[in-house]
Formats: sequence, C-alpha cells, structure tokens
Amino acid sequence: MSTAALHRVEIMHGVNLDQLHRRPAAHYGPLSLPELERVIADFASELGLQARFFHTNAEHEFIEHLHRLEGMADAIVVNPGAWAHTSRAIRDALEIANLPTVEVHLSDIKNREEWRRHSVIEELCVTSVSGKGPDGYREALQRIARELGT
Ligand code: DQA
Repeated sequence: MSTAALHRVEIMHGVNLDQLHRRPAAHYGPLSLPELERVIADFASELGLQARFFHTNAEHEFIEHLHRLEGMADAIVVNPGAWAHTSRAIRDALEIANLPTVEVHLSDIKNREEWRRHSVIEELCVTSVSGKGPDGYREALQRIARELGT
C-alpha cells in the first residue's frame, strides 16, 4: 500500500450556491449543494484526491479562507457564483493563495446574459469549465490531478 499523502483539493463555493435547490434547474440542475458535494467527493476519490469543502455567502469569509489555505491545500476548484463576474478582491486573494486553480460554473456562462460572460478570475486559473453541470467538476479534478502529477 502506498504511504504517499493524497493531494488536497479545496472545493470552494461562493454566493448563493447554498440555494442551488431553489434556483432555475434549467441552468443549475436538480442537485442541492450537499448533494453536489457528495458527487464531487466521489469524483475526487476516484482520482485519488482528497477533497475538502467550503461555502460562504460572505465575500470577506471567502477571501479570508483563501488567505488561510497556505500549507493546507495543494490546489483549488472554485465556483464563486456571481462573484466570478464582479469581485476583483476575490481575484486578488486567489493570486495571493497562489495554488493551481480551476474555475467551474454549472451553467454555460459564455452563452447567458452579457454580464455573466466575463469572469474576473479566469486569467488566474489553469482552466475554466462551464456548462457541464456536475460533470464539470470531474473535468476540473482531472485537470488538477494532471497538474499535480497524481
Ligand atoms: C454560476 C454562474 C453564475 O453566473 C451565477 O451567478 C451563479 C452560478 C454557475 O455555477 O453556473 O451563482 O457560478
């Protein structure tokens, strides 16, 4: 049996994602956030990654969590919700965290309203995945696994 430590991936969900079960299923699918997190945990363990989950609706808590990740995580998968389109403060905190990061959106943000098409964090991310529902997180974790050499 391998004694190598598993790579730790922080899965971060931002504003309004705790209300997924009350949002338009046509965009976001039928899963609640706890259900989505269980699906993501399964994807991670299939890939030999250790997933840890964080959600908040408070921008400062999201930023402070990013500040605390040093030494606690090897990579980040982030769905910031609407903060992806607006929060330069979260963009800067991601830069400070300085970890390989993949951005995920359940819905296809490039083919929705104009204001959703731009992500202020995209330039810092290894890649961005959108419009693939929960499977987008599998793709993100596969990319992280490659990035970390798992
Ligand atoms: C979202 C897309 C955002 O535009 C939106 O504000 C969300 C969810 C997604 O997962 O598709 O809250 O990040």
